[in-house]
Amino acid sequence: MTSKLFTPGRLGPLTLRNRSIRSAAFEGMCPGGVPSQSLVAYHRAVAAGDIGMTTVAYVSISREGRSFSHQAWMREEIVPQFRELTDAVHDAGALASVQLGHCGNMSDRHVSGARPMAPSAVFNLFGLALPRAMTEADIEEVADQFAESTRLAQRAGFDAVEIHAGHGYLVSQFLNRHTNRRRDKWGGSIENRARFARLVIAKVKEAADPQMAVIAKMNLQDGYKGGMEIDEAIQVAKMLEKDGIDALVLSGGFVSKTPMYVMRGDTPYKEFAKGERRVLAKIGLLLFGRLLVKTYPFKEAYFLEDAIRVRQSVKVPLVLVGGLKSRVVIDDVLSQGFDFVGMARPLIAQPDFVARLQRGEITESPCEPCNECVALMYHDEASCPKLDSN
Ligand SMILES: Cc1cc2nc3c(=O)[nH]c(=O)nc-3n(C[C@H](O)[C@H](O)[C@H](O)COP(=O)(O)O)c2cc1C
Repeated sequence: MTSKLFTPGRLGPLTLRNRSIRSAAFEGMCPGGVPSQSLVAYHRAVAAGDIGMTTVAYVSISREGRSFSHQAWMREEIVPQFRELTDAVHDAGALASVQLGHCGNMSDRHVSGARPMAPSAVFNLFGLALPRAMTEADIEEVADQFAESTRLAQRAGFDAVEIHAGHGYLVSQFLNRHTNRRRDKWGGSIENRARFARLVIAKVKEAADPQMAVIAKMNLQDGYKGGMEIDEAIQVAKMLEKDGIDALVLSGGFVSKTPMYVMRGDTPYKEFAKGERRVLAKIGLLLFGRLLVKTYPFKEAYFLEDAIRVRQSVKVPLVLVGGLKSRVVIDDVLSQGFDFVGMARPLIAQPDFVARLQRGEITESPCEPCNECVALMYHDEASCPKLDSN
């Protein structure tokens, strides 16, 4: 019997050739903020490996919103490089999406040239920074930058934009009570904390042509007490559905509190410390790594239980991501009403993972996961040091 994985699926105005999406996972391939030939080659390889849609990760909507010097920010000058990438992806029969975000309290002033801003001035231990609280004008400006980045993404040939509303970046910082302590209409109740996400979506939808899909990646749980939990996530999912989002990518974790919640598996503490250029953070990681960064054991489809609760609450297409590495589990997830599966590490290890599954050459990804690709990403191109030769 043909697996649902290899059947076409509708996502808003788009039809993907199958149910697989290469999840946004920072490639580290934009030195100086400019997409490199490695980025084009990587996404071309994923597309040639039969993915339905591939997502270019972690593109900032402004120079100020970045956390890495090898992270792109959307601007006129890089439209040609992105156009080369989307042409390559389309030539290989896949669709291309770009994840747009702003790091908020995780922005690095050495990279962005500005003091980080966030919903409220709450110290961020991981970034070792006290951000300034955003003004009304900042809120409007950032939402407008999401819209402008969408227009540029469209000109670059992307079929979809994915708003990064999860993992503790700016939009997710608004959703979280700990980082959002505002007493105005942007803070307090979940309706107020979701107002920024909704404003961004409204502006992005207004900027996007009808043939472009608008997706949001959001958390099921931030992964710690006091962060956003599943009941609030369901309310957010319902609001975004009402706003006309074309699909929701369901994930979890809050980078300044529970950075490994999203990945699961081993935490490569030594490799993290090696890549850290800030001396204090490097020492902190070496001495207190295990206390600062909690490890979460890996199991396949680790967000499934929470995601099923969202599935029962909304009708919008859902993409499940997190530990989807075997044909059996992917088939099971798709049979439980999820429309697409998102995968990151299996496609870092083997860009043609989907083609190999389809050909029946393998039944699961060899990714362990050791998460060394994550440590590499901080200062270099994200690759799989163990399986590079495959
Ligand atoms: C090296 C690496 C970089 C990542 N960067 C991002 C990112 O920029 N944006 C994002 O939404 N998720 C990011 N993620 C999370 C993945 O998209 C995905 O949600 C997570 O790895 C779980 O999926 P997997 O088990 O298929 O790897 C990253 C993951 C990895 C391994």
